[in-house]
Amino acid sequence: MENDRPTTLPGTRDILPDEMPRWHLVEARARELFDRYGFEEIRTPIFEATELFARGIGGDTDIVGKEMYTFTDQSGKSITLRPEATASVVRAYVEHHMYRAGGATKLYYIGPMFRHEKKQKGRWRQFFQIGAEVLGSDHPAIEAEVIEMLLDWLRPLGVECRLLVNSVGDGRCRPAYVELLRQAIKADLTQYCEDCRRRSDTNPLRVLDCKVESCQPLIDRLPRITDYLCAECAAHFREFRSYLDEGRIPYEVVPRLVRGLDYYVRTAFEIVSGELGSQNALAGGGRYDGLSEVLGGPPVAGFGFALGLDRLVMVLPAEVEAAATRRPDLFLACLGDAAFHRGMTIARELRRAGYTVLLPFGATSLRSQMRLANRLLAGHVVIIGDMELATARYQVKRMEDSSQRELSLPELLDYLKGQAA
Ligand code: HAM
Repeated sequence: MENDRPTTLPGTRDILPDEMPRWHLVEARARELFDRYGFEEIRTPIFEATELFARGIGGDTDIVGKEMYTFTDQSGKSITLRPEATASVVRAYVEHHMYRAGGATKLYYIGPMFRHEKKQKGRWRQFFQIGAEVLGSDHPAIEAEVIEMLLDWLRPLGVECRLLVNSVGDGRCRPAYVELLRQAIKADLTQYCEDCRRRSDTNPLRVLDCKVESCQPLIDRLPRITDYLCAECAAHFREFRSYLDEGRIPYEVVPRLVRGLDYYVRTAFEIVSGELGSQNALAGGGRYDGLSEVLGGPPVAGFGFALGLDRLVMVLPAEVEAAATRRPDLFLACLGDAAFHRGMTIARELRRAGYTVLLPFGATSLRSQMRLANRLLAGHVVIIGDMELATARYQVKRMEDSSQRELSLPELLDYLKGQAA
């Protein structure tokens, strides 16, 4: 509250109409492209039972440990605003027996997520993700296909980004590596930051994620998970990379990449953009075979990603932004009440013919109406005054070059068709 006037809460914001064209553009491109890869949209609830996330994401993670918006509802049930959607999608897949269809099920989602994180550039407490999940396939090729789709979406938008990949092993090889890591951290424990010292015991993998400057040389000397993978995980990782190579998709292997959620096995990846600053991850994802069983479902292989839309919109180049800006085809300048009524009728016909038409609600004089048309970037202004009312012929001004012509309504429709051709 500011001066007793409610305002947005920290970490939340209004996305105003002038920002929307960019959002619409990236969302429309994603829907069109994901469809070409066989993905179908799913919408799951924004709030779910707390247990879903506590079990799915892992109790030791920052998300579950300190960032969830959890409350008790009127019936005494513990509810959480979803911090991510992978757990929800797997829950839905199991709940609706989608596995009975056989083969790989490809699902995508767009929507808000909620995390009570420290405020920082590129970080919000309500933020939007587009995510895609493939359930029912443990093939490494599906991983390369999903990543290729993601890059196919980002590259034509002119977004500068890099692909980082890693394997985090599985239940067979990771425990031994984690123990080795714990011992290696312990050897220099006093030199690590406070967070790392605490994590060395509870979740040593998180140490690899630490951003504190003084910890970096220590972390660089720690054992690398890629050197300790079991034969199956190593083969899976090799095969995954061979598909990336075949698709000529450049990537960097980053053995420190462990991600902040506990459900990952084998392949993990991130797409980072230098333009984002310290919160540089545009998208992240990986394989999560076993998540379904953690949630009480049958064994189901899973692989997917989520991309932060707020961040993508932030790094969208100016040209894309300009192309996304909506320009009305026509603005109808109406001088007087009778002209306004005629304007309403003409607007109806033009809209039915497919044009974007605006009327001067609020503005009165011709000058103020022309100013408004300019501000709205209208392509044409049609002037309706007493004379035009009497003759049913209208002054049509093309704003780009100020050329003017007098046209009847059918002539105007023909003229607009010609302009579009
Ligand atoms: P995540 O890495 O936690 O993964 O989030 C994915 C993306 O969401 C991040 O790369 C970032 O762009 C965006 N993001 C996360 N937190 C914030 C925030 N506070 N403000 C703005 N953007 C944010 C997941 O959520 C997994 N569910 C991804 C996944 C899907 N793994 C497998 N399938």
